[in-house]
Amino acid sequence: MTQLINKKRIEQLQSLIRYHDRKYYVENNPEITDYEYDQLVKELEHLEKLHPEFIAPDSPTRRVGEKPLTHFPTLEHKIPMLSIDNTYSEEELREFDRRIKRMAGIGNQQDIEYVVELKIDGVAVSLFYENGLFVKGATRGDGFRGDDVTANLKTVRQIPLKLEPLDGEREIPPVFEIRGEIYMPNKAFQKLNEEKEEKGEPQFANPRNAAAGSLKLLDPRITAQRNLCLFAYSVGYREGLELMTHMQCLEYIQRFGLPVNPYNCLRKNIEEAIQYCNEWDMRRREPDYMIDGMVIKVNSLTLQDRLGYTSKAPRWVISYKFQPEQSVTKIEKITLQVGKTGTITPVARLIPVLLAGTTVCRATLHNFDEIRRKDIRIGDYVIVQKAGEIIPQVVHVLREKRNGSEEVFHEPVNCPACNNTVNREGVYLRCHNPSCSAQAKRLIKFFAGRDAMDIEGLGPALIEQLVDKGLLNDYADIYILKEEDLIQLERMGKKSASNLVYAVEESKHRDLSRLICALGIQNVGSHTAEVLAEHFGSLDQLACATQNELESLYEIGPVVAKSIVTFFQSKHTQGIIEKLKARGVNTRKLPTLREGKNPKISGKSFVITGTLQKYSRKEAEEVIKNLGGRVLSGISKKTDYLIAGEDPGSKLDRAKELHISILNEETFEALISS
Ligand code: IVH
Repeated sequence: MTQLINKKRIEQLQSLIRYHDRKYYVENNPEITDYEYDQLVKELEHLEKLHPEFIAPDSPTRRVGEKPLTHFPTLEHKIPMLSIDNTYSEEELREFDRRIKRMAGIGNQQDIEYVVELKIDGVAVSLFYENGLFVKGATRGDGFRGDDVTANLKTVRQIPLKLEPLDGEREIPPVFEIRGEIYMPNKAFQKLNEEKEEKGEPQFANPRNAAAGSLKLLDPRITAQRNLCLFAYSVGYREGLELMTHMQCLEYIQRFGLPVNPYNCLRKNIEEAIQYCNEWDMRRREPDYMIDGMVIKVNSLTLQDRLGYTSKAPRWVISYKFQPEQSVTKIEKITLQVGKTGTITPVARLIPVLLAGTTVCRATLHNFDEIRRKDIRIGDYVIVQKAGEIIPQVVHVLREKRNGSEEVFHEPVNCPACNNTVNREGVYLRCHNPSCSAQAKRLIKFFAGRDAMDIEGLGPALIEQLVDKGLLNDYADIYILKEEDLIQLERMGKKSASNLVYAVEESKHRDLSRLICALGIQNVGSHTAEVLAEHFGSLDQLACATQNELESLYEIGPVVAKSIVTFFQSKHTQGIIEKLKARGVNTRKLPTLREGKNPKISGKSFVITGTLQKYSRKEAEEVIKNLGGRVLSGISKKTDYLIAGEDPGSKLDRAKELHISILNEETFEALISS
């Protein structure tokens, strides 16, 4: 009897929490206090603990998964996620309207209704609901296949795990795909970057990158803390659903509890649509999220169908992009920045100025030809803008503001960091001194960074200190850092020092592709690194690859091939790689889950004993985990396999007693490749 009461109460609480989630996260109109809400969640958690059998997969307590993923599988889109044509000109919007009328045989005097929406600057996603339950979600990817980021999307509180029409009047379609934009509000973005700065970690350049990065984290528990939000903007694949207009689609989505942008509106012709776009050009900083333009969509779905698609984009939609915001400021000085491959870039230091919502005090000048072409001088007043909203750039100089005191900046002959003579390579200046400290700092920062070896806690500020104190000369030195060395540094407690040593140790077992990327080879980013790791399988194999062999790979051109060969020919590089190997860094490709779980390993528990020849303990563990298995420390009746290397010790005897399957290195390898 109590069980029945508890079951009812669990269902009631789940539904109540869903209702209040919608009121709070979607409608911005909470009906209860945070305290009252927390009490409901606590009660539900308590009852679900007592009765795990009643936990529904869509329960509000199931948003955050327990375990990190090892990779994202890909999902094919039922309907391709195309991009949209865009324009910066009002005249082209009128041409878009005329073209539609021509194609649809509509007279020029007749009006076409448009829905005008804000163009949210985030990441496009597709959300699939089956019988009202959120079952999977993916990124746009290449438009045909995207990454399956369901676990991360479930942590977004605005995405209902179960669709529930508020008035209960409509039936839920059996299959229903909603498309929209995941974004990070500006305030959340600023807070995240402040936290990153405190920890000395690299910051995100803009809210879009922060949203994309957070959606692609392998650990949904971290994504859950990132305050991601959604605006749904269209219905994709659907079964059993008749809709006539795009506006109806939006209303429909909203009824089911997904957030739709409140500023979307219907305009009766193109002129009114243009007017609304211009209104928002002025208001673009008003919302707490980034918009980079407006989207204009034909309202009638019948007309949309008639217009169809080009290979790239639908013919019934266009985006009107806002001109980048610009500001005027003064160049106080020009400094030189040395990149990780020795490229020397001039940077303008500006009188701080507000630009597109942030204070800007630096702008890249790209190279010395650019300085000459734009005739940029120290002391000049300049127009700055954010190119692609990331790094501000100088658009042009306001010559009329010159008073004669401006100074021409001369191309340096020596490296500003190590004084080595620099070389001109095309438009770039480069320092070729492999021991240049500025290059070392850059390289180490890159090596430890998120896209490379991902060493938590080894941020830019700490790397500066470590290089200046002579504790790091190159990235291989990271692997001999000791707690005693670290504790002496500013703002470094015992706990942080030991965490860092642990993170460094852990990074030794990263996959080969990360290591190749981390080496900082010119023109080799994370994608090329993956291609190389996949083909060569080990760093040794890659290091002896010839120019021809590299060029024969799909996606590797002569320039990249040349960079790779030059990199590995350098004695300096060879020395560093030897050190990495000697210090225990993995230089081979580890098997991954890419082809799906290995049924012989997935769900099985392993214990490892003794020394293996080809794998360190950590690497063997990583391989097993990647293939879906578990590694435990002690033998029990539940152990499925014991992997016994050399000098196995008592675990082997115990495994024999319990009749547990015993693998040697060879049979283990056969199992993982089966
Ligand atoms: S409609 C086929 N509506 O802009 C049309 N897109 O530059 C599908 N975006 O990939 C897109 N706000 O990620 C649409 N209100 C909006 C949007 C929007 C942002 C993004 C979307 C798309 C990109 C195209």
